[in-house]
Amino acid sequence: MPSTLDQSFVTNSVWKPDIFKGKVVFVTGGAGTICRVQAEALILLGANAAIIGRNKEKTDKAAAELSQLRPDAKVISCIVDVREVSQLVEAAAKTVRELGRIDYVIAGAAGNFLCDFNHLSSNAFKSVIAIDLLGSYNTIKATFPELRKNKGAIIFVSATLHYYGVPFQIHVGAAKAGVDALSNALAVELGPLGIRSNVIAPGPIEGTEGLERLVKDRAKTISQVPLQRLGTTRDIAEATVYLFSPAASFINGTVAVVDGASWQTGSGV
Ligand code: HXC
Repeated sequence: MPSTLDQSFVTNSVWKPDIFKGKVVFVTGGAGTICRVQAEALILLGANAAIIGRNKEKTDKAAAELSQLRPDAKVISCIVDVREVSQLVEAAAKTVRELGRIDYVIAGAAGNFLCDFNHLSSNAFKSVIAIDLLGSYNTIKATFPELRKNKGAIIFVSATLHYYGVPFQIHVGAAKAGVDALSNALAVELGPLGIRSNVIAPGPIEGTEGLERLVKDRAKTISQVPLQRLGTTRDIAEATVYLFSPAASFINGTVAVVDGASWQTGSGV
């Protein structure tokens, strides 16, 4: 997958080019479209990164490509199943050994498929809860010592489908509702340590696996979005940079819904 951001994100941007210089981001799901563009933005603006994924080939490839975004960028890959906290602890240790520190954590690893309740097995439900919700918890558990030391910040990648009832998404809706609750509680509990926790909830974003699987009629979908367009990966990147930047230093325990007000129409995108 080619990078969706390039140098124009730095030159044609409201952000200072070195805003994240010396910082390190730890990204689960970093080989997928949404979390990858979040990593791209931070790397282009000065950060180094650890890309965490389950599939070795995809994760190594993403890390190698991301390291090309900036001449002095350091990007490592860690092969981890986020359901296993010990693997995340090892990945965090490797990140500190090789990149020196962790300042920002993006918990975005997710599993999903469309399945109606009647055919959804208990194990299938458990698998998605374990990846999306337990995996998010494990990610923060493993990186907490670094977040505390560096007064870091967290972004969870959630969704909007639990704001109302979306059929065939019972498992993901339940998991993402849990992710939002996890972020809220962490924001309150870790706030006194100087750690901020927020959520990005993407809507219909062009070029993502989710959109491809969920949206069959593109023109109809666009007509249902109040802003009359699909979201772009850049929209996700901008929200990510804002939430990690000093401009958001009093933003804690919020959900940034990046969907053009799509979910509020009840159209299911
Ligand atoms: C019904 C399914 C299923 C499907 C798996 N299962 N796929 N049930 N419909 N399409 C069931 C299996 O039969 C099994 O239950 C249980 O789920 C666990 O399956 P495994 O394959 O053993 O689990 P695992 O290898 O851990 O895979 C986890 C996964 C898988 C979540 C099921 O889809 C995955 O790894 N996905 C990662 C990639 C991914 O999903 N990316 C999408 C992200 S996009 P039984 O009872 O048979 O044991 C996104 C945005 C929204 O999240 C997308 C909207 C659609």
